[in-house]
Amino acid sequence: MKLAAALDVLGQIRMILILGLPHVFRAIYAQPSLIFNWTALSRISFANVWMAFGQGSDENTREDKSKLITPHATGVVLDLGAGHGYTASYLDRTKVTKYVALEPNNLMHTHIREKAQAAGFSEANGTLLILSCGAEDIPSIMSSVHSKADTIVSVLSLCTVPNPQNTLLSLVQDVLAPGGEFLFLEHVLSHRADVAWWQKFWTPIWVYVFDGCRLNRPTHLWVKELVDESGESTWSEGRYWDYPCWPEEHLFWRQFGRFVKK
Ligand SMILES: C[S@@+](CC[C@H](N)C(=O)[O-])C[C@H]1O[C@@H](n2cnc3c(N)ncnc32)[C@H](O)[C@@H]1O
Ligand SMILES: *[C@@H]1O[C@H](CO)[C@@H](O)[C@H](O)[C@H]1NC(C)=O
Ligand SMILES: *[C@@H]1O[C@H](CO)[C@@H](O)[C@H](O)[C@H]1NC(C)=O
Repeated sequence: MKLAAALDVLGQIRMILILGLPHVFRAIYAQPSLIFNWTALSRISFANVWMAFGQGSDENTREDKSKLITPHATGVVLDLGAGHGYTASYLDRTKVTKYVALEPNNLMHTHIREKAQAAGFSEANGTLLILSCGAEDIPSIMSSVHSKADTIVSVLSLCTVPNPQNTLLSLVQDVLAPGGEFLFLEHVLSHRADVAWWQKFWTPIWVYVFDGCRLNRPTHLWVKELVDESGESTWSEGRYWDYPCWPEEHLFWRQFGRFVKK
């Protein structure tokens, strides 16, 4: 891997600190006790960083997300780590009955409401539900959603979820309906040893700057390898594929995936 590509992340860390730190300092000034709450500060920083990065991140992947999400999302759609709710704009209103946006960072909820409203989903008529819990909090998800999810979408979120393998297993086993689809776009651990080395090198630093995000997770493999209680594949069909126009030599090497539950 070229050193320039490996060190590219330094520029991003610099940008993130420039965008996030002023808000963090302002928040501490207004409420000094926040200095003891890393989660709160990290979320304040991330909410402001995403104001700058979110739209670009969405636009770069628009074409591919419309192929992944629009034709396959149906019924009750659970969006893990909804962010600003960009996923809502890919949902086909004639096939999706409810958009459940799970987003533990409350500072992002107004954006979710706006995007969802524009796409035809609102809390007033029960077509939008915003959850403040994490994806790992399966009991809260189940008690709030009532029915099972027909589709689970994850766009660049499984890098942040705690206990990702257990969380994935429970989400698919307990929350996703039989015949339901798991659709993802995630940056993952590279299959190239040199890129993977740098991903592992940066992760302990990156995790602090970017709200717990890890570069070293083989999320696509974890999804593919999910098995049920009898040890058989959870999926009746499924595959993952490369993000077409990105170089392999990328620390944020991405995979799309579409898996259908038995
Ligand atoms: C990189 S952003 C992606 C947002 C959105 N999916 C998009 O593509 O625009 C990752 C999101 O995951 C959220 N997140 C953090 N911890 C989480 C958790 N435990 N469960 C679910 N989402 C989480 C963050 O707050 C953040 O909004
Ligand atoms: C820290 O902040 C988070 C997020 O704002 C909040 O949920 C949590 O209750 C806070 N923890 C403490 C100890 O105040
Ligand atoms: C729910 O409200 C939204 C936003 O006002 C609207 O676009 C949508 O058509 C409504 N859906 C139903 C099923 O009433």
